[in-house]
Amino acid sequence: MVQRSHAVGSVAFLKDGRQVHIRPLLEDDRDALAAFGMSLSKNDLLYLEDDFTNPEIIERLSNAVRAENWRQLVAVTDEGQIVAYAAALRMPGWSNHVADIRLIVTPTWRRSGLGMHLAQAIVESARELGVTKVSVDMLAAQTAGQAIFSRLGFAVEGQLVRHAIDRDGNLQDIVIMSAFVRV
Ligand SMILES: CC(C)(COP(=O)(O)OP(=O)(O)OC[C@H]1O[C@@H](n2cnc3c(N)ncnc32)[C@H](O)[C@@H]1OP(=O)(O)O)[C@@H](O)C(=O)NCCC(=O)NCCS
Repeated sequence: MVQRSHAVGSVAFLKDGRQVHIRPLLEDDRDALAAFGMSLSKNDLLYLEDDFTNPEIIERLSNAVRAENWRQLVAVTDEGQIVAYAAALRMPGWSNHVADIRLIVTPTWRRSGLGMHLAQAIVESARELGVTKVSVDMLAAQTAGQAIFSRLGFAVEGQLVRHAIDRDGNLQDIVIMSAFVRV
């Protein structure tokens, strides 16, 4: 069971002394979000489900800021640069008590605790959507993500074999992790 934590719209003090503001994505963030996408490494882009270098994806995410079933958070520097992104999307149909989670930190801001801060914040946002279960899926190769969500109390629910094709055209396994949250 994931504990309640982190308020949205907070400052995260990182292990390396840097700090960032964690807040909801705004429509005005379109350019900063596009720049964030361009800051990701080739390896990240290879493995992410959404192509953050595609202007149509940036447009879709920016337009979704008021969507009822979607919460998007960003970590922003004092200079207005987006250095991390997270989303919780409430699923339709018979899984509408479940939110699907995404989390990405730009490479130069990793290993300072930002991923963990933002993961906690997005789980809290998912809880505010009214869901009782949060789920995240990632490629088996994305071990850092598995480490973070496991530390947050998520358990592996399953592995789908050769279920994704990365941007190099290679088949990859997907790991599904989930946790139940307090309402
Ligand atoms: C996963 C990701 C968000 C982690 O961001 P981060 O800011 O580096 O994470 P943190 O610094 O908060 O790390 C928290 C803990 O996770 C684990 N961890 C993070 N990166 C790790 C790595 N590369 N290898 C092993 N463990 C790792 C560690 O236990 C770490 O704690 P520690 O630094 O005290 O040892 C980042 O690597 C990323 O964006 N990856 C690409 C996208 C992705 O895989 N997303 C997850 C699925 S949606």
